[in-house]
Amino acid sequence: MPLLSRLYDDLLRPALYSVSGGDAEQVHARTLRLMALAERRPELLAPLRSRWATDAPVEVGGVRFGNRVGLAAGMDKDGRALSVWPALGFGFVEVGTVTRHPQPGNDRPRLFTLPKSDAVINRMGFNNAGADALADRLDAHRPAGTLGISIGKSKVTPLGEAVEDYRYSFGRLARHADYVAINVSSPNTPGLRELQDKGALREILSALRSDSAAVGREAGRDLGHEAHDAAHAVPIWVKVAPDLTEPALAELLAVCLDVGVAGIIATNTTLSRSGLDQTELSYAAQPGGLSGAPLRARAVEVVRFVHDETAGALPIIGVGGLRSADDALAMRDAGASLVQVYTAFALHGPMVVRELARALA
Ligand SMILES: Cc1cc2nc3c(=O)[nH]c(=O)nc-3n(C[C@H](O)[C@H](O)[C@H](O)COP(=O)(O)O)c2cc1C
Repeated sequence: MPLLSRLYDDLLRPALYSVSGGDAEQVHARTLRLMALAERRPELLAPLRSRWATDAPVEVGGVRFGNRVGLAAGMDKDGRALSVWPALGFGFVEVGTVTRHPQPGNDRPRLFTLPKSDAVINRMGFNNAGADALADRLDAHRPAGTLGISIGKSKVTPLGEAVEDYRYSFGRLARHADYVAINVSSPNTPGLRELQDKGALREILSALRSDSAAVGREAGRDLGHEAHDAAHAVPIWVKVAPDLTEPALAELLAVCLDVGVAGIIATNTTLSRSGLDQTELSYAAQPGGLSGAPLRARAVEVVRFVHDETAGALPIIGVGGLRSADDALAMRDAGASLVQVYTAFALHGPMVVRELARALA
């Protein structure tokens, strides 16, 4: 393992956990606070960026990405450190998932690190400051760089009213986004995954598609930031669960093709508990979604299925357990144009991002 990775794994990560009393959520909150401070110091970020970033621009679905590796949704839910991620090597950032209504998420503890399994279990439950807060922040300052915004359903909104809930967030946020990700696949909001069923999904996507055309027209009049082709509708990506059966996934894809989404993000966290290290089997009973190494093979399999089933017609962002150059190449070979990472970045630091980005450059 390269020296920098070992320093991170053997010194920095243990130190962070130690000052946070071993609480994974504290580590996350502290790190994010530090990054939010760095957000206000462009003079520090510029040199970091020139040392770290992998500039390998690529266009996918009409949108320009700085390189093929993005920060997966959930890390920077409220968009507090948007200028920092590119300096750490990410070619794009997906903020959120945000919901129409601000919400605290589930009770703690709700985030568990499983270092031996190279994995995380979380049941955060869309803790976020809400779509309005993110829209206000982006109104005040929308940093350069490719930005995806993930939206989900508020916990208080009944499933039957999901369409309006998504439409509200979309209406507030789409004009700032290079793409909007529709999250119908988190396991931590009761009933959310039912929105992957073809009827419910068609309703949501059709409504958002017509809203996006309107946003595109409006944006063409009065906006125009770097990576956004303002003359067109805002691209809509759909994020899927790894736990869908192939027939269910095929139905979902037929809807996506029919409605005209821009692409598929595969996958979200899994309810499966296979692949855990023997020493961490006690975590298997923790409710929530599993991410990291145990998810990798299934995520690649889902990406391959999506690619084959759509005959390559929908671009794919592959996400799930990616850590090494080989992982990135396997995702690419399965059909992914872009990838995202969360868990390996959280556990092993920005060296992971660089390795993935260089492999795919
Ligand atoms: C703590 C945590 C929170 C997450 N929150 C979200 C979220 O809000 N929205 C979402 O679409 N995915 C969320 N995810 C899923 C990730 O975006 C990603 O799909 C999943 O973790 C698999 O990638 P990984 O193995 O690289 O972590 C979250 C994952 C973790 C670990």
